[in-house]
Amino acid sequence: MPNPSLHILLGISGGIAAYKSLSLIRLLQKNGAEVKVVATPHALEFVTELSLQTLSKNPVYVNPFAILENVEVEHIALADWADAMIVAPATANLIGKFANGIADDALSTLFLALQKPVFIAPAMNKNMLHHPAVQANLQTLAQRGCHILASDSGYLACGTTGDGRMQEPEQICSTVISSLSATSELNGMHALVTAGPTYEPIDPVRFIGNFSSGLMGFQLAEELASRGAAVTLVTGPTHYNTQNPNIQRVDVQTAAQMLEACQQVFPQCDIAVMAAAVADYTPQQVAPEKIKKTDAQLSLALKKTTDILATLGKQKSEKQCVVGFALETEHELENAQTKLKNKNADIIVLNSLKNEGAGFKCSTNLVTIIDKNGRISTGTLKDKKEVAADIVSYVIEYMNFTNIG
Ligand code: CTP
Repeated sequence: MPNPSLHILLGISGGIAAYKSLSLIRLLQKNGAEVKVVATPHALEFVTELSLQTLSKNPVYVNPFAILENVEVEHIALADWADAMIVAPATANLIGKFANGIADDALSTLFLALQKPVFIAPAMNKNMLHHPAVQANLQTLAQRGCHILASDSGYLACGTTGDGRMQEPEQICSTVISSLSATSELNGMHALVTAGPTYEPIDPVRFIGNFSSGLMGFQLAEELASRGAAVTLVTGPTHYNTQNPNIQRVDVQTAAQMLEACQQVFPQCDIAVMAAAVADYTPQQVAPEKIKKTDAQLSLALKKTTDILATLGKQKSEKQCVVGFALETEHELENAQTKLKNKNADIIVLNSLKNEGAGFKCSTNLVTIIDKNGRISTGTLKDKKEVAADIVSYVIEYMNFTNIG
């Protein structure tokens, strides 16, 4: 949602990823923000002051002694003007200065003067990133309330691959904008979300899994957190990272581990959203050694897993709202209604795999939401982030209507 009054300071330090900051300026502006750039002298070895000035439509701040040129003390005026600061890319050197209170250039001076949210996107070689000194500095900054935008894994400018790549500008922009437009509707509430597939081991090297990416559950966790809830996200194997510091992530592999993790937190939860694609069956026995190939047919004996949603549905009190998903290929609405009843859920979000662009592997989804009060609401094909926002709004409305929470 464009936010015309949002003032963003973009700090740029001297790393090759600085070229991506040019598109970050554009993306932030497209979301309605005004951007002012503060660059270190080394940053200007990678991108020119003229490009930054032209794109941001504002002067670029590099010199901490700008007081000589301007009447106001520049870093104090900028700190007052800003709603938030993004530092992208943040080099190991700059992170070290931030963590240790060193102020020897415009950017590090501004950091100390600023009492607004700070988002830090590290970018460096993977060995540097994993050095205990850098890790300790990042931890210090996180403990002091900075949002660390975990770096991605991939090709690095030094010719190697690994962690340390700056998050893509789209990702940084979306995290910052949604975090700053956060509301407090769910303040004081605790939400449990499950996400991703489960992996059921067959032997030490094989498992039964499914194509769930985990995206829908991760987006739901971010949405709930951005509206003020403390979120526990219990997730099967996925490559997604959480962004909001109010999400506590618990990684599991199997349906049994997911059940155990959920049981531990559910009693303290106001809302539970079960978006995981949990295996319905698991091998009766896990072979202790790798199963060797023979000429004979191989049959696997499977046993049923415990239905987590139904278990929580049975345990839930009148004050708790439990949301399930239904993934259907035929008789969609009828099957979803049966699941709502049988699993004692308050709300079921129905995904029909028949709709193009909806379901497992897509970044979009089309859902129909049904609830215990008989309401049925069908959406349109949207980005999963927007679908997550619709689902959370529906849950809040349902809880207000039924006086839950
Ligand atoms: N679910 C669960 N635990 C399981 C299986 C499913 O918590 N062992 C939850 C899912 O997270 C989802 C809902 O139940 O919220 C429905 O999952 P779905 O796969 O659509 O249905 P199933 O109950 O597994 O039934 P079927 O596969 O026969 O449609």
